[in-house]
Amino acid sequence: MKTISVGLIGFGTVGTGVAKILEKNAGLLYQRTGAHIELKKIADLDIKRSRGVRLKKGVLTTSADEIVNNPEIDIVVELIGGIEPARRLILKALENGKHVVTANKALLSAHGWEIFSAARLTGVDVAFEASVGGGIPIIRTMQEGFASDRISGFLGILNGTSNYILSRMTDEGADFKAVLKDAQAQGYAEADPTFDVEGIDTAHKLNVLLSLAFGGKADPKKIYTEGISSITPLDIDFARQLGYKIKLLAICSGHGSEIDARVHPSLIPEKHMLAQVGGAFNAIFVQGQDVGPTMFYGRGAGMMPTGSAVVADIVSIARNIVKGVSDRVPLLPYGSKAPKAIRIKPMSDVQTRYYLRFSAVDKPGVLSSISGALGRNHISIHSVVQKGRDTSNTAVSIFMLTHEAKESDLQKAIRQLEKLSMLKGKTMVIRIVEDIPAAG
Ligand code: HSE
Repeated sequence: MKTISVGLIGFGTVGTGVAKILEKNAGLLYQRTGAHIELKKIADLDIKRSRGVRLKKGVLTTSADEIVNNPEIDIVVELIGGIEPARRLILKALENGKHVVTANKALLSAHGWEIFSAARLTGVDVAFEASVGGGIPIIRTMQEGFASDRISGFLGILNGTSNYILSRMTDEGADFKAVLKDAQAQGYAEADPTFDVEGIDTAHKLNVLLSLAFGGKADPKKIYTEGISSITPLDIDFARQLGYKIKLLAICSGHGSEIDARVHPSLIPEKHMLAQVGGAFNAIFVQGQDVGPTMFYGRGAGMMPTGSAVVADIVSIARNIVKGVSDRVPLLPYGSKAPKAIRIKPMSDVQTRYYLRFSAVDKPGVLSSISGALGRNHISIHSVVQKGRDTSNTAVSIFMLTHEAKESDLQKAIRQLEKLSMLKGKTMVIRIVEDIPAAG
């Protein structure tokens, strides 16, 4: 019986899920690959804590180098996250002729092509299903399921923590800070939630999907990224009254030689399928030119869901090893040897509709000043509502929806307006996303 040896770097939540699935489903995995998959080594800084997994003596080590340099290991699974030392370890494993499975979206977003090129040099495979959407098989879907089609664009809810927080804010009318604190206490948010709530994790995942959808390499720094920390229950409630939900979206669509790729909180129609995606769930809505709209939904994080995606990658590579092939499915569906450079459309050129909330004193003429500044900057107002009445010179909320306008015009108008003493505090700007932005 052929044995394929796996070395796991990182024995945290997902690593534990991988070990559990390899043990629990050993027979099934043998049927599916024709090989016995052995978890040969696991490296972690903490090898004392029990994870509830039965391991043979000598499997655990504190040295990741022991794994990437071990001649008996066929597949290295990297689950430590972050850029270094993950990058160095993966490159070493590839140089040593080992196949690599990784869930590391930050690394793939910043250094994906370096890793893919290194894999080509030694003729090994790299698989990264768990890097986006946790247990949702979106990577393989884009690489293989869409192989006959052209993707026009996609919208994604790609961060479970943000979606969980926004869902609770929506259901309970609670504010961001209170829900975040509770989410941290319950293990739904990290002690340092910055990457999750400020959209950075979503932008990494968007960049990974963008490469698959459009077959090239974009500069991640050019992806406009805004998180959910300034969203208030007031905005969520007003959006609801207008028939919208607020979601943190990854937005990506092809526009000729440019790609519109951005991450920001968005008002989406409550009838849109993505608006139904609640709690810590993720979903990706993908539009193919021939297949039309498709949607993929599931758990974007967690021990067993993400572990199942990692093990599916191990299975896929094991099948290749058994058949004696590699690089059967190109890492990017376009299969080019050198990546084409993808130009991200500058945010200032993006055209969209806007939800605006002004804090203004309640005096005659305020509304005409606001609408005047918007009009002078080519922004046409769709509707206006003022909430409350206050003559004591404190602020009231004025809500507006605009027709489609250009981002640079909107920002210019806001800058002009915020110089006026009648406006108090920052204006809330949330972009409205009815669907994947049309090419144009
Ligand atoms: N931190 C991520 C999330 C899960 O909240 O969705 C891992 O990608």
